[in-house]
Amino acid sequence: MVAENTLSVDDLILPLFLVDGKKRVESVDAMPGVFRYSVDEILKVVEKVSQKKIPLIALFPKIDIKLKTNDGKEALNPEGLIPEAIVKIKKEFPNIGIMTDVALDPYTTHGQDGLISEDGTVKNDETIDILKQQSLLYAEMGADIVAPSDMMDGRIGVIRNALENNNHCITKIMAYSAKYSSSFYNPFRDAVGSSKNLGDFDKKNYQMDPANSLEALTEVELDIFEGADMIMIKPGLPYLDIVYITKDTFKMPTFAYQVSGEYSMIKAASLNQYLDEKNVVLETLLSFKRAGCSGILTYYAIDAAEWLEEI
Ligand code: PBG
Repeated sequence: MVAENTLSVDDLILPLFLVDGKKRVESVDAMPGVFRYSVDEILKVVEKVSQKKIPLIALFPKIDIKLKTNDGKEALNPEGLIPEAIVKIKKEFPNIGIMTDVALDPYTTHGQDGLISEDGTVKNDETIDILKQQSLLYAEMGADIVAPSDMMDGRIGVIRNALENNNHCITKIMAYSAKYSSSFYNPFRDAVGSSKNLGDFDKKNYQMDPANSLEALTEVELDIFEGADMIMIKPGLPYLDIVYITKDTFKMPTFAYQVSGEYSMIKAASLNQYLDEKNVVLETLLSFKRAGCSGILTYYAIDAAEWLEEI
């Protein structure tokens, strides 16, 4: 009766990995229990999402290496993996919300989120134009939320304007406003097949320095000003202080991403029976709520929904 915060299935967002082809279910290295699915197979997972009443899924593609280019133009292919998945999922499960990642990293031969110059740094303004087209394509296909995860400056304003001017005023933007240059993303980069492309390069010239918190507030403020409907902080657990000050300062719907490395840590410890998986996962998810999150992206969403039914 005196609990100040609660966790429910309404708080959960499930990230899902897609791969082309048919009848493919591939395990992801370093993320036991997480798979990449071809579109026909993903429908079975979304069925479960629907049964459990999880409100939202987030789609991420592993693109065939042959389709990757320096400019990542496959990201704009209307017959690409993500557009196909949006259309098929929406047709069968119109009530499941779909969020799509807006960034070029699965599509580029260099694994960076944007276009790059000779020295390997990203070209901010040229990239924004492609991100705008990618967002419009997903909105047209039926995505409910577009989620720019690239950290280019100024992209939220350009995307918001493009959506408004093209009859997509209902499409929402969840801005990955404070995205840190983190070593917790490595399993994800294997999942989308970008780690080999990225090689020894990192994303420090556009993602945030883990030493900074005031900068996060600036990034969030800019994105709100430019028209973001919701804010995301990433990674999750090591950055709950950022979630807290963001929510406290701006009072906006604030989300966090319990990222791949966080999943892998809990999973590895649980498989070794060092930790009780169910209790640890539910405790971490409740901690996100306590810090001020409206919702959490977690690879544990289906498990958590099942565990919450048992309580
Ligand atoms: C890139 C992107 C990343 C994640 C989501 N979108 C990784 C990166 O910035 O290299 C990470 C998610 C996770 O680790 O679970 N656009």
